[in-house]
Amino acid sequence: MKSLRQVSGKNILITGGAGMIGSTLAHFAACSGAKVRIVDAMLPLYGGNLFNLADIRDQVEFVEGDIRDVAAMERAVVGVDYIFDLAAQVSYTHSNKDPMLDLDINCRGHLTVLEACRKYAPKAKLVFSSSRFVYGSTENNPVNESHPTNCKSIYGIHKLAVEKYLSFYHDAYGLDTVSVRIANPFGPKQQMKHNGYGIVNWFIRMALERQPLTIYGEGRQLRDYIFVQDLARGLLAIATTPGTSGEVFNLGSGIGTAFREMATTVADCIPNTIIREVPWPADRYFVETGDYISDLAKIRAATDWVPEASFREGVEKTIEFYEMHRRHYW
Ligand SMILES: NC(=O)c1ccc[n+]([C@@H]2O[C@H](COP(=O)([O-])OP(=O)(O)OC[C@H]3O[C@@H](n4cnc5c(N)ncnc54)[C@H](O)[C@@H]3O)[C@@H](O)[C@H]2O)c1
Repeated sequence: MKSLRQVSGKNILITGGAGMIGSTLAHFAACSGAKVRIVDAMLPLYGGNLFNLADIRDQVEFVEGDIRDVAAMERAVVGVDYIFDLAAQVSYTHSNKDPMLDLDINCRGHLTVLEACRKYAPKAKLVFSSSRFVYGSTENNPVNESHPTNCKSIYGIHKLAVEKYLSFYHDAYGLDTVSVRIANPFGPKQQMKHNGYGIVNWFIRMALERQPLTIYGEGRQLRDYIFVQDLARGLLAIATTPGTSGEVFNLGSGIGTAFREMATTVADCIPNTIIREVPWPADRYFVETGDYISDLAKIRAATDWVPEASFREGVEKTIEFYEMHRRHYW
């Protein structure tokens, strides 16, 4: 892929780079000859895991640091060509229970990165990992980037706020920024400690432990599940494509899979898995967005990226990974 060649020799900063998406990206970038610096606070609720970086530990610079720490971020951005700002409080359900924490990490943290970038790395390209949750309740599918933002969670509201910070820094200070609205990622290297986010991975853990997969209602809601390796390649493509500056892009598989079908695929791959239906819990029903499928026309027109793994292939690779490495994840 062109974008992998383009990062060769470049300096890349990945915040949240010990997590699932950041560490996958770090592997691609480091193996393509980029010099990778990772800043991760290793907060216990999220997916930071040094095992995620074990294969490339001597090829990347790892700094334990927090995106809310002004001095740490000012040091981290010096000399970088690309910044992938992926650190986050990742759970939309946690965001509603502890909105101040979400505000602190998911808004103040990214504003700190932007300020550091404005002062010490004004030529760097900054890619921000936003989320499909900015759309909230969907009015039509597939959802394109002009769809209304009917956020139904504090997490979605704060992701949208940061997109607007990026637009402001792009327009006011000429920073090279781009926001990427990620669908439902899954794959190797995700945290498996709790089900606050990453339901496909959680179902894989449940099935490997011979526990039933619980679905709410009939599980008819459509989701767009994207395999993390496709996602990481998509982020690199967006970063290295010049015309993406100041824009917002969807990044998903572009395929709608019913929740029940997702569970059935996991169950097919791990024999003797039972699926059970329960009524929707009130707190989940409130934040439920309805069907979601990414419209990928914009990213396809701008870049050479295409998702490669089918959902089943992604699930099989994920199971294989955790069968080998489960002791590092739970
Ligand atoms: N996983 C999903 O369901 C999903 C969906 C859409 C968008 N995203 C976004 O993608 C990005 C990466 O998510 P992921 O799936 O790799 O999750 P992850 O939990 O695996 O990684 C997040 C990383 O951020 C780190 N982190 C958290 N707070 C930090 C802070 N204050 N300073 C520095 N590091 C901090 C964590 O330690 C962790 O390593 C996030 O911005 C997330 O919001 C994730």
